[in-house]
Parts: sequence; C-alpha cells; structure tokens
Amino acid sequence: MGKVIAIDGPAGAGKSTISKLLAERLGFQLLDTGALYRAVGLYLRRKGVSYDISDAKLEHELAGASVGFENGKVMLNGEDVSAAIRTVEAGNDASVFSARKPVRAFLLQMQRDAGMQNDIVAEGRDMTTVVFPDAWRKFFLDATETGRAERRFRQMAEKGTPITMDEALRDIRDRDRRDSGRDIAPLRRADDAVYLDTTSIGIEEVIDRILETLTS
Ligand code: DC
Repeated sequence: MGKVIAIDGPAGAGKSTISKLLAERLGFQLLDTGALYRAVGLYLRRKGVSYDISDAKLEHELAGASVGFENGKVMLNGEDVSAAIRTVEAGNDASVFSARKPVRAFLLQMQRDAGMQNDIVAEGRDMTTVVFPDAWRKFFLDATETGRAERRFRQMAEKGTPITMDEALRDIRDRDRRDSGRDIAPLRRADDAVYLDTTSIGIEEVIDRILETLTS
C-alpha cells in the first residue's frame, strides 16, 4: 500500500489545481477521480443513455466502457477525452450518473488499486470517507458558494468556453445539491479530515498549509 493523501470538497473549491501542484511537489501520482466520473458520464451520454435508466441496464451499458489514465491523459475506450470531459455538460452528466450505484461500483476498485501501487494524492467527493477511509492524511477543501462560482466563471473563460456568472452560480448550486444530497457516498466532511477554507487564501498558501500538516 502506498501513502494516500485524500482530498475532498465541493465543486470549485480548488481541489484539482491544489492536488496537482501538491502531487508534483511531493513526487506523488495524482488520482483525479472526477475525471473518471466525467469519462463515464461522457460514455453514457454518447450512448444516448437517459438519466432514468434502470440499474440493471446501466450495469449492462458500463460493461462496454474502459476508462483510466495514460501518461496523464484521460482515456475512454482508447480515446484521449481529456478535453472533451471538461465542459459544463460533462460535469453535470458526471454529477448525475455518479449518484448511481452501478457507476460507483464500476470505479471503486480501480481507484483503490491506484492507491495500492503508488504514493498518491487522490481528490474527489468520497476519498476521505469511502474509497480511502484509512488514508495517510485527509483534507477537506471548501470555499464560499460565490467564491467557487467566481472560480468556475474564470476557468471557463480561460478555456475559451465562457459562461455567465449566473450560469456559474447555478452550476455550483446544482452540483452541491446532487453531490451532497445523494444516498450513496455523498460529499461530507470526514471527522478526521483537516478543514481548509480556500476562499481568501492563495493556492501557494493552501499548499504550504497542507505541507505543514504533513510534517507535523
Ligand atoms: O471534481 P469534478 O468536478 O471533476 O467531478 C465531477 C462530478 O463527478 C462531481 O460533480 C461528482 C462526481 N464525483 C463523485 O461523485 N465522486 C468523486 N470521487 C469524484 C467526482
């Protein structure tokens, strides 16, 4: 078993950027689990699967999906979908389908295997609670709703696919409702996770605080 740094938090709290930099600093592998859920969402969307599909049919559909990472790229059945999964729609599909039992079961072992082989920084919604309950270190990154919407607004503009502030706020609220309100593996703050509010502190400072915690 490698060392696992498990990081959870709501959409837009800065988890991806912070986890990526942290992994680079420590020489750990990054496990971006949202990317896996997004790839599954994209697969199901392309197959025309509707949100109300039965569990049995969903499980059957998933049998044809192969998702994972290759040289830092997100792969879906041999295709590099790293860019295709970064749209608002793909995020919503991921958020909706990730509430479903067959989807969570499909990705669970793959995530745990990554932690068996390497030292990893694993980020998502249920890293600290379900996937790696015995992680070496646990963090919960948070920020205000407005702060997170502003971050989402800036990210989409930088990507060349701008959205309005209203859309960003709606996206964040919808995701919070679904990711925290679902029955299986909802987003919640683990009792033993270190809580960090990133609203008004810079990325470097968040990383410094995490690094301090690791050595203390
Ligand atoms: O972190 P992200 O925005 O890329 O994640 C997309 C969606 O995937 C998120 O809204 C909920 C789901 N997800 C999840 O349910 N569990 C995880 N560990 C990671 C993501």
